[in-house]
Amino acid sequence: MVAAMIVKKVDQFIFLWFLAIYAPAATFCANVTYDHRALIIDGNRRVLISGSIHYPRSTPEMWPDLIQRSKDGGVDVIETYVFWNLHEPIRGQYNFEGRSDLVKFVKEVAAAGLYVHLRIGPYVCAEWNYGGFPIWLHFIPGIKFRTDNEPFKAEMKRFTAKIVNMMKQESLYASQGGPIILSQIENEYGDVDWAYGPAAKPYIKWAASMATSLDTGVPWVMCMQADAPNPIIDTCNGFYCDQFTPNSNAKPKIWTEGYNGWFLYYGGAVPYRPVEDLAFAVARFYQLGGTFMNYYMYHGGTNFGRTTGGPFVATSYDYDAPLDEYGIIRQPKWGHLKDLHDSIKLCEEALIATDPAVTSLDPNIEVAVYKTDNVCAAFLANINTTIDVTVNFSGNSYRLPAWSVSILPDCKNVVFNTAKINSASTVSIFRAESLKQDVGSLENDSLGWSWISEPIGISKNDSFSKFGLLEQINTTADRSDYFWYSLSIDLEDGDDAGSQTVLHIESLGHALYAFINGKLAGGGTGNNTNATVNVDIPVTLVTGKNTIDLLSLTVGLQNFGAFFDTWGAGITGPVTLKGLKNGSTIDLSSQQWTYQVGLLGEDLGLSSGNAGQLNSQSTLPKNQSLTWYKTNFVAPSGNDLVAIDFTGMGKGEAWVNGQSIGRYWPTYVSPNSGCTNSCDYRGYYYQSKCLRNCGKPSQTLYHVPRSWLKSDNNTLVLFEESGGDPTKISFARKQIGSVCSYISESHPPPIALWNSDTESGRKAGPVLSLDCPYPNQVISSIKFASFGTPYGTCGNFNHGSCSSNSALYIVQKACIGSSSCNINVSVNTFGDPCKGVTKRLAVEASCM
Ligand code: GAL
Repeated sequence: MVAAMIVKKVDQFIFLWFLAIYAPAATFCANVTYDHRALIIDGNRRVLISGSIHYPRSTPEMWPDLIQRSKDGGVDVIETYVFWNLHEPIRGQYNFEGRSDLVKFVKEVAAAGLYVHLRIGPYVCAEWNYGGFPIWLHFIPGIKFRTDNEPFKAEMKRFTAKIVNMMKQESLYASQGGPIILSQIENEYGDVDWAYGPAAKPYIKWAASMATSLDTGVPWVMCMQADAPNPIIDTCNGFYCDQFTPNSNAKPKIWTEGYNGWFLYYGGAVPYRPVEDLAFAVARFYQLGGTFMNYYMYHGGTNFGRTTGGPFVATSYDYDAPLDEYGIIRQPKWGHLKDLHDSIKLCEEALIATDPAVTSLDPNIEVAVYKTDNVCAAFLANINTTIDVTVNFSGNSYRLPAWSVSILPDCKNVVFNTAKINSASTVSIFRAESLKQDVGSLENDSLGWSWISEPIGISKNDSFSKFGLLEQINTTADRSDYFWYSLSIDLEDGDDAGSQTVLHIESLGHALYAFINGKLAGGGTGNNTNATVNVDIPVTLVTGKNTIDLLSLTVGLQNFGAFFDTWGAGITGPVTLKGLKNGSTIDLSSQQWTYQVGLLGEDLGLSSGNAGQLNSQSTLPKNQSLTWYKTNFVAPSGNDLVAIDFTGMGKGEAWVNGQSIGRYWPTYVSPNSGCTNSCDYRGYYYQSKCLRNCGKPSQTLYHVPRSWLKSDNNTLVLFEESGGDPTKISFARKQIGSVCSYISESHPPPIALWNSDTESGRKAGPVLSLDCPYPNQVISSIKFASFGTPYGTCGNFNHGSCSSNSALYIVQKACIGSSSCNINVSVNTFGDPCKGVTKRLAVEASCM
């Protein structure tokens, strides 16, 4: 008997060892289905938290940390779109390398033990160039995008099947033991289907059956598609989704895009969303029957190269996400959401067991109880935007701040309130560092830079002439942002040459520069809401031959709206010269123009640092339009994440060691108004509610991934369009300035202590915790500490009328020299400086 048991144990050991070695990372074959209440994974309903990370918006070197930090933040699922134009830039020629290595990304997620939601689209919107469609698609004869059109459907099916088969070959679906539990087809078609008329419905039906026929073994969703055909789950996108109900009682309530903030565009201020409101939105969703929500974005990252859409979407896609553009944890957002996720998970058993019983105590107080014979969890919401209230629930009274939800995993004790942040906050700073040029490359005359002018007008052999004005995208096929329109006209003596004449240009966008006789005469730009450019440029013409060279630019192709693929760009006219002799006007629109797609420097490969052509002997030109610049530099030392500060430059694109870090445009300034010093989280959020940085450039700092840098001999190449001074360019290192925490006596205790009162019989109270953000750091100083009625925000705390004398000393004693510290926020620790008042402890510390 004993021997038999030993044999059995050994067998088990070998079996487990075999599984550990040969099983795909982290998960076993799982059957994924759903019912009215939740996704069901291997027979178990699951409450899931998901976060968007779009793989090409970071580097493969960053992926493991991003995924781990998501996991540490309580995320179970990583959601990503699949970017068709990245993977199939030329029809039939695929790219799955580097930042496009989708399989590697999915495997990294699996290795961390998380699930994947793969949103194939293949239309993705996403502020991505052309919404993710490859430009060649536009040139297929007879094609009409996103409608019941055979050529489009054939291509959409081919690419979708390609991705599904790729995932299958690598066994990445949960049904095969992989991490993918969910997939999306199309994207928010329900927002535009009206415009596609009667063809919309058959298209959506076709998309649904095409997707299901691919037999992934896991469910499909369509977002914002109220008529999503069975078995596709229709899901909600928005700032709030608590009021959403799917189109069948057999489908779970899923929120595919819960916005953390919003995207930045050139000419806009920087949007942010207070975490108290975001947490409120998420808690409301789970309160009212939701079981799967996804943060759009959990890490937004960077629009490298020419990947942004819009037009005018900025290079930074930070999105005010829990992980910032650089991948660093953003506090208190990350921490407060982690506490929220942990609290929701404490309710999981009750949430999956039943529907909530929802009652309204008054129009603004909504109580949801998930109760069975064994478990009970409750959510108490105060949706009033200004008034805090005390409510009575199950014989106990609870104080609910305005616009907040309290979570009670046992229907009795509050583990979390969305408006009370227990997590510490950090202030991150960019420390400027001058650009260190490699000594070997220093040239006295040109300050370490070499340069070359891009010719104005036509310079390439592949230019061509045509009567009339050509639409840009149809002509360039997006091979370049740049498109030249050139003309020469002869003026006779007396044609008013030399006097003030006006060149009138009408363009579909997105920006343009006009050169007259080789000199920049003016230009214009559209904006994020209206890309068109209509300008009247005063010009001086001469008797005889005059050249008119118009450089039209795209700044990311349109990515949303009905038929957005056909909106076009470029100078479609009219183009006229007004104010000639006797006030006459010449319409140049239908003349014979000469065209050039792209720049000579692009053809010469200057962006990769091909220096042969560049000049380093003569004086460095500054504020000169259309100039390529190059320098060699030493990377900022250490491991801090780095950005280039382009203040001093105009507009262009930059490459580090041949890799494009994106379009820079530090001169596009946001409007002076619309920002608030402190944004009230209470009340409905919308994308322009909370803005910072008004009246300042939308983006001056551009992320340079560390893995793109060598320690020295790095090349930086710029193509500057409007004119700038490259010697003003500097680096910025991202560092944490201060760590702060601000906890009141009425805060719930830390979630980690949730079970402690049942064990010790004592109820835990609120605790202030500080943690140094980086390993090997300790708290080096306490810049501020006050117990009483302090006010302000991290970096700007002040003592209130009531404050304990011993706060600073107590906090210093508890924290200095340690990497983290915890202090009970109570009169037992600090004494009572003002009886009868709810006191707060505010601390600002530095780590070194
Ligand atoms: C949604 C869309 C996303 C993204 C988002 C805004 O409508 O589905 O792809 O564009 O808006 O960031």
